[in-house]
Amino acid sequence: MKNSGVFRSRGVSWLMHKLCFTLGSMLVTASAFGGNKAFDDGDYTVKATLSSPMNTIAGLTEWAQSINHVYGITSIVLVLVFFAVSIPLIYAIYKFRVSEDEDLINKKPPKQVHGNVVLEFAWTIVPVILLLFIAIPTWEGIFSRPVKPPEGALKIKVIGHQWWWEFQYPELGITTANEVHLPENTPVFFELSSADVIHSFWIPQFGGKKDVLPGADAVNQMFFTTPKLANPEKAGGEYYQGQCVELCGLSHALMRFEAVLHSKQEFDSWAKVHNQPPVIASELEKKGELLFAQCQVCHTISGTPSEDLEKQMLAMDPPAPKQGPNLTSFGDRRTLGAGTRKNTYENFAKWVREPQSIKQGATMTAFNLSDDDMQAIAAYLRFSTAKNY
Ligand code: CUA
Repeated sequence: MKNSGVFRSRGVSWLMHKLCFTLGSMLVTASAFGGNKAFDDGDYTVKATLSSPMNTIAGLTEWAQSINHVYGITSIVLVLVFFAVSIPLIYAIYKFRVSEDEDLINKKPPKQVHGNVVLEFAWTIVPVILLLFIAIPTWEGIFSRPVKPPEGALKIKVIGHQWWWEFQYPELGITTANEVHLPENTPVFFELSSADVIHSFWIPQFGGKKDVLPGADAVNQMFFTTPKLANPEKAGGEYYQGQCVELCGLSHALMRFEAVLHSKQEFDSWAKVHNQPPVIASELEKKGELLFAQCQVCHTISGTPSEDLEKQMLAMDPPAPKQGPNLTSFGDRRTLGAGTRKNTYENFAKWVREPQSIKQGATMTAFNLSDDDMQAIAAYLRFSTAKNY
């Protein structure tokens, strides 16, 4: 019987299975090198490079570094297992290949190893040792984490929405969206809750992930000490990417945000000026301010009538929180649409006119404004609300 191309060793299918599993695990590890390249003017893209702003292997906090430590050990074990499996596999494929003139029907099967005590013990003990090798540093990492946030940590409430992030600083009276500003080298304490479905909060370079759950009694916590600035001379903050990591609906992949790290001094001045009302510097901005009246059912800007409206809505029974992000200091934000586009005039106009083309399923209403009106509202939001800090 001609049967070339069929593997005749029974061990081969087993080895194939192990090899696929190992390769899969290695791919997961390799994905650590990938990440989202933010702020593209065009469509959302994913690029994988070592310097990606979302790479998971360049931890900056103590917490992230302890995760990376376990990551490194796991990767070494994975690579060893990969070679231990793939080298015998390649050897077996070559050595036991079927030749053209072989009589497979009358040929005896190879020597069977079922029930071989030495082999059974060996392939039980070796994985146990490998798993212990991974488990011990994992336990060490988990149990070395403090259970409570340190005294005096900066408290920030994180509220997940489909598909953007709200950040409230209760002690500072600040509410912002999609950019969480943090002082360097300072303990911070996040309280995580959701306005709708389950999300997950993650700043890869700052540490692990945590679920963001709906319901008042399901508030998760996350705390760590922020890293030091990489370049303290440079003003304006250092940006680190964050992302929702729980499938939360149509535009889950577009639910991003940025953590902005400042010197303590710069953070204080950011906090001081954040809630200042917009400064109207031109006729265009004045016109934009009037146009914003139709936005204020969903959006608030501190120091404007939209803030009073928010208070009234929250005082209702039941309270009716606004559906859209707070736009105080919108002019300072690098992105719009929750980290999906640069905050440019073109992207702004596209977002206002056809938000569905940027983020499918977004609750943002489409406004078909004339070019004149668009320029006015953009001038108001992008320039009047910008602060010097
Ligand atoms: Cu929110 Cu995924």
